[in-house]
Amino acid sequence: MTLTAREVLPTPLDYAGLPRQELKDRILQRKAQRNAVILGHNYQRVEIQEVSDFLGDSLALSQEAADTDADTIVFCGVHFMAETAKVLSPSKTVLMPDPRAGCPMADFVTGQALRNLQEQHPDAVTVAYVNSSAEVKAHSDICCTSSNAVQVVETISRDRTIIFVPDRNLAHYVQERTGRDNIVAWDGYCYVHDDLVLEELDKARKAHPEALVVIHPEAREDLLAEADEVTSTGGMVRMAEDHDALILGTERGLVDQLRERYPEKTFVPLSGAAVCGNMKLNTLSKLAWCLDHGRHEVVLEEGIRSRAEESLRKMLAVSGGWQAPSEEEEKLELAGVRPKGCGCG
Ligand code: 13P
Ligand code: SF4
Repeated sequence: MTLTAREVLPTPLDYAGLPRQELKDRILQRKAQRNAVILGHNYQRVEIQEVSDFLGDSLALSQEAADTDADTIVFCGVHFMAETAKVLSPSKTVLMPDPRAGCPMADFVTGQALRNLQEQHPDAVTVAYVNSSAEVKAHSDICCTSSNAVQVVETISRDRTIIFVPDRNLAHYVQERTGRDNIVAWDGYCYVHDDLVLEELDKARKAHPEALVVIHPEAREDLLAEADEVTSTGGMVRMAEDHDALILGTERGLVDQLRERYPEKTFVPLSGAAVCGNMKLNTLSKLAWCLDHGRHEVVLEEGIRSRAEESLRKMLAVSGGWQAPSEEEEKLELAGVRPKGCGCG
């Protein structure tokens, strides 16, 4: 029996049996009904990327979440990303297709554990990588992403100690790039990037000597030292526009995306095993179910949300991203002269 797009089925499993095109039709139809926007991270499965309205790295997606006019944000990524969207757009409904899609790196640090470290360094400034919970962000002074971590740290006076959570590899990279020796790094890491090894890089290089090596800053320092470029997933997408061959030291989803987009170019995964199982928990059937049922909604305690927002807004201001409109700009927005949510400051 072919099900019409209007029938709501009880569980994600019931959707799993539907043809791909029907799932896509359902997603589009329900998205329009809910005035929803689908934000997809670069590591999502190709079929999720195909139905995403915006695809990007953590910074671009947080800027998009802060800016959107949609009533509902469906976040296809991992939990901290959906939480970030809720922090920045509290009046909107934020949904996740699978609430189990967490980020193990974010789980390395809790609010209480961070407070304990802060007690040992009472004068330190705390920088939280966005791969962290809203509670950790709430206890931090400023956030950063992989694309602006160096820039964010450079805004902090050189004589202040910095507590950097939770990624030790990104902390080390920032330390190298800024020449600072006063960064206290949390001992967390991403299992996908920390597992990338030099032997695999050597093999990929021998097979593709013409390719430039681009590596995500969550990888270990010995690997980053060999890279031609270290950048975020968004940076890699931009590099792919200008280069014919790249070896990519990051998660496979990004490589799949680039191969679809530029079939004539050569994109080589540094490791075929670099797969983030958490990102892959999102599927088309769960996405269709999530839009039909309005679940799973991200809910945050207001005290935590508002303090996390301060840290995220400071980061967005550093990145030249979204900034709250001034009184004058608000008037222009109301008069329809300045586009609403322009955020260009
Ligand atoms: P990007 O912000 O570079 O997309 O990185 C997010 C992430 O989780 C990488 O593992
Ligand atoms: Fe977290 Fe690593 Fe997955 Fe990124 S790739 S979401 S850091 S576990």
